[in-house]
Amino acid sequence: MIKNIPFFNYSHIFGQYQIEIERIILDISKRGAFIMQHEVKAFEDNLAKYLNSNYALGVGNCTDALFLALKAANIGNGDEVIFSSHTFVATASAIYHTGAKPIPVECGTDHLIDISSIESSITSKTKAIIPTQLNGQVCNMDELQRVCNKYNLILIEDAAQSLGAKYKNKSAGTFGLASGYSFYPAKVVGCFGDGGALVTNDEDIYNKVFLTRDHGRAKIGEVVTWGMNSRLDNMHAAILDFKLSKYDLDIVRRREIASIYNEGLKDIKELILPSPPNSNQYKFEIYQNYEVEVVKASERELLRSFLNQNGIGTILQWGGKAVHEFEGLGLKYSLPFTEDLMRRCFLLPMNTSLTNDDVNYIIDIIRKYFNYGH
Ligand SMILES: Cc1ncc(COP(=O)(O)O)c(C=O)c1O
Repeated sequence: MIKNIPFFNYSHIFGQYQIEIERIILDISKRGAFIMQHEVKAFEDNLAKYLNSNYALGVGNCTDALFLALKAANIGNGDEVIFSSHTFVATASAIYHTGAKPIPVECGTDHLIDISSIESSITSKTKAIIPTQLNGQVCNMDELQRVCNKYNLILIEDAAQSLGAKYKNKSAGTFGLASGYSFYPAKVVGCFGDGGALVTNDEDIYNKVFLTRDHGRAKIGEVVTWGMNSRLDNMHAAILDFKLSKYDLDIVRRREIASIYNEGLKDIKELILPSPPNSNQYKFEIYQNYEVEVVKASERELLRSFLNQNGIGTILQWGGKAVHEFEGLGLKYSLPFTEDLMRRCFLLPMNTSLTNDDVNYIIDIIRKYFNYGH
């Protein structure tokens, strides 16, 4: 029998904890506590504690968090900032809107920034690197920090996809000067619209962004600098605080699903899989996404359409193009490894609404496509 497994089940993020979330929505609504009430600070404190970081600030979304971090680090006109082109355009647009130039570089076989390709892109104008901790995986942070130290570069992490992921037991998003997290609905901890956080150990960055995310105000009626409106909604802060308290259970489940996929697909030579949980002693992955590659690019759309005919939704990250491939952005670079990867990779369903039966069904359909036995 054909199952119906959408790529992402948006209503599940409400349904999973409906009773508790209804209670939060009613409470906030009845109190009219919509903007910058104590729930924002409570969530910030709990998030900072969860990540073992000094400070967290709720902001409108991760793109703003990255932009505000770059501005607070005085990055702007005339500067260059390096990022991996296998990322959401947001990483680059946060750089662009400061006035700095986004410089895309290759990703490696793990889909994360290829650290060995960074050095040749460094110029006298390079001020910072933004690695994207993609798919719930963390880069080799020792290596990345070595490059940053050697060239005196600021490290700002795009941790939109990696809340709770770790490298040597340290959380993604806590290695550099600051980082951004996203609470977009499909993220591991998602809210019911847009939401984000900036995390930092640096008091100066915290103090600056505390002002700039709220119109440059120290308090209502007291504008002390230029700012913008990028506040985390109070309702979302309350919902996120609740979801964060349950999040470790979701991580366990995501890692279980990844293990089932890896076990069920590992003998298929036509596919390249993400590393299974615990395969690298230094890394703890939280599997925001499960991004697979077909060896032959010509196979990808055929496989995706076979999965689709069998009720299984898949997607191409960023619509199937690396950032530098969007002509309208004017980034004229050639990154052959990334370009080839973008023709071969796609995402299988990965979220906590999936049952083991669902995951095994997806595995069976893929095995059937490649003519492997059950
Ligand atoms: C890698 C990456 N960076 C940045 C963002 C932007 O996050 P937001 O939508 O919260 O601005 C996303 C979210 O889609 C993302 O996946």
